[in-house]
Amino acid sequence: MSLFSLLLRARRAPCLGLLLLLASPVVLAATVPSASVESPGKILKVTLQVDGGTARYQVQRLGDTVVDASKLGFELRDGRLDRDFEITGSSTRRFDETWEQPWGERRLTRNHYNELTVSLRQTTGDRRRLDVVFRVFDDGVGFRYVFPQQPGLAEAIIDEELTEFAIAQHSTAWWIPAGEPIHYEYLYARTPLQEVPLAHTPITLRSDSGLHVAIHEAALVDYAGMWLRRTDGQRLRAQLSPSAEGWKVRRALPFATPWRTLQIADRAGGLVESDLILNLNEPNALGDVSWVKPSKYLGVWWSMHLDEESWATGPRHAATTAKTRKVIDFAAANGFRGVLVEGWNPGWDGNWVGNGYDFDFTRATPDFDIEALSAYGAKKGVHLVGHHETGCAIDHYEDQLGAALDLYARLGVDSFKTGYVCDDGQVDRRNPAGGPLLREWHDGQFMARHHLKVVQEAAARRLAVNPHEPIKDTGLRRTYPNWVSREGARGMEYNAWGQPPNPPEHEVNLVFTRMLSGPMDYTPGVLSLKGRHGQAIPSTLARQLALYVVLYSPIQMAADLPEHYLQHLDAFQFIKDVAVDWEQSRVLDGEVGDFVTIVRRDRNSRDWFLGSITDEHGRVLPVSLGFLEPGVRYRAEIYRDGDGADFRSNPFAFARETREVTSADALTLVLGPGGGQAIRFTPL
Ligand code: NOJ
Ligand code: CA
Repeated sequence: MSLFSLLLRARRAPCLGLLLLLASPVVLAATVPSASVESPGKILKVTLQVDGGTARYQVQRLGDTVVDASKLGFELRDGRLDRDFEITGSSTRRFDETWEQPWGERRLTRNHYNELTVSLRQTTGDRRRLDVVFRVFDDGVGFRYVFPQQPGLAEAIIDEELTEFAIAQHSTAWWIPAGEPIHYEYLYARTPLQEVPLAHTPITLRSDSGLHVAIHEAALVDYAGMWLRRTDGQRLRAQLSPSAEGWKVRRALPFATPWRTLQIADRAGGLVESDLILNLNEPNALGDVSWVKPSKYLGVWWSMHLDEESWATGPRHAATTAKTRKVIDFAAANGFRGVLVEGWNPGWDGNWVGNGYDFDFTRATPDFDIEALSAYGAKKGVHLVGHHETGCAIDHYEDQLGAALDLYARLGVDSFKTGYVCDDGQVDRRNPAGGPLLREWHDGQFMARHHLKVVQEAAARRLAVNPHEPIKDTGLRRTYPNWVSREGARGMEYNAWGQPPNPPEHEVNLVFTRMLSGPMDYTPGVLSLKGRHGQAIPSTLARQLALYVVLYSPIQMAADLPEHYLQHLDAFQFIKDVAVDWEQSRVLDGEVGDFVTIVRRDRNSRDWFLGSITDEHGRVLPVSLGFLEPGVRYRAEIYRDGDGADFRSNPFAFARETREVTSADALTLVLGPGGGQAIRFTPL
């Protein structure tokens, strides 16, 4: 333990240390001005100190240091805002409320924290001011900078944010690289934290003693996404996503940055159960959002990824009136609300990857009667799900956005998927100064603005949005509940393409990394277990069902072709039955990268659902049913790996059986390698 942390322990929180002129070196150190605050249950403590003009924060958990003294500040275009600081004041505030999610992993969420605001001022130059606000929860910490209005600084041009995260305990990290071409679509690496170069968030850490920490951000609004570069040892530093103009962020004062978040838990499942990211976002700004419908959908989609049909028009065109009508029929017969159709509009015939200038979002191709199909679906209670692939031609898309969304609203296409297919760093932006196009990153300030614009325009027309190749999720669904889901990781599509497909470990890793940020449109449920040219998907049949419970999203696709579902009616029953909106969610057990078991209670019935998946190792997992309502008898419909199930050699070994259980019972889940299990519990 450092001298700094020892001294901090002696302090009462919150406090503002005063400069005392005393002789011994130890006491001199204690005179460093500081302020601190503890979480409501006194589990976490955050301290900010200014030493030699540098502001640093530190996080402790039950007395142990989790984040060692870590620097705060900025490099501005016209001067550094990370030195010559003094503390001019500090204040604390308690907050405790329970709010209701319109849809989500749980209905009621408690937002309980103690807040510390520290006001800093530089002692030199223009005597610039910067506030740091900490919200300390029992399960983590959020902090952000506030640039207050001040003379001589009308606008901040931020060249870099200098926030550090010096992880104190020796840790293993699960991470994906940042600054690479395919955004967030990498397999997670598991390495010592000391070997991470430049990573996206959420990044998940586990210390040798089993403490779990995830670093991410909340409320990424009009700012650049935060990447993390390791500078030395276990010290990470913010590196903001670039902008074409050289600076990272440009904002008029006053403004606040996104929250930098640390979720901290002694069990892996604690990270997943934490609502910290949502709590740090602003409340619902849209009012009544009963028009946002959690639901399941089918698609005119997988056949194109299998390369059996095409987005382009011609003999292989998938999005035809006749073919779509059949999928609508299948959706209606099986209780699906939505049918996603890709390739419905002009623009797919040429080379659209990284080039969206041919896309027209306001009319359909001649062989796709969008008016008739919408009306046909409406009669059957099925809504078309819209699709806008932009090919990263952002201004071209924004020019059409209003008219495109008006069309959807008029036709009852009340949700749509967007797409941003191009290499990262190659997003097109019209040059405000004329001249050649500018190139942006998928999570720079420009795209943060773009995504929010689409979400707001959609909300004005009561439409829900699901971006692929998106900016990362930072919990903005709380403020804009029509931002229902997104991709933002390697999804099922990689299993169609192969080379290589997603190994079983990937979906377990997602739960403890990507999913901490929010819902994912992973598109599970490929019961054929086959990608392109018959290539095997690394999964057992039961596992495909478990994914609906394990990978949360309020919109869930049944990604496979209708004819494949007809070949697996037993398993398909679970996809038809599984809920998508939850009263409660709990992680019963799990380890990052190894396995996970999650249970969720349906918001619209008393049913519970269980999903469990493992990596490439088979597992026997005892599960207590104590989460069920006491004294109630349930029918448990169990969809499990059959004897000898193995994703490599025997993926279709599958069993469906029914038992009667109560909360006093326990079950033993037997998962094959790459396997899973799904259970529906219905009160009798
Ligand atoms: C990538 C998306 O993830 C996928 O779902 C979509 O089909 C293609 N882009 C085409 O837009
Ligand atoms: Ca994608």
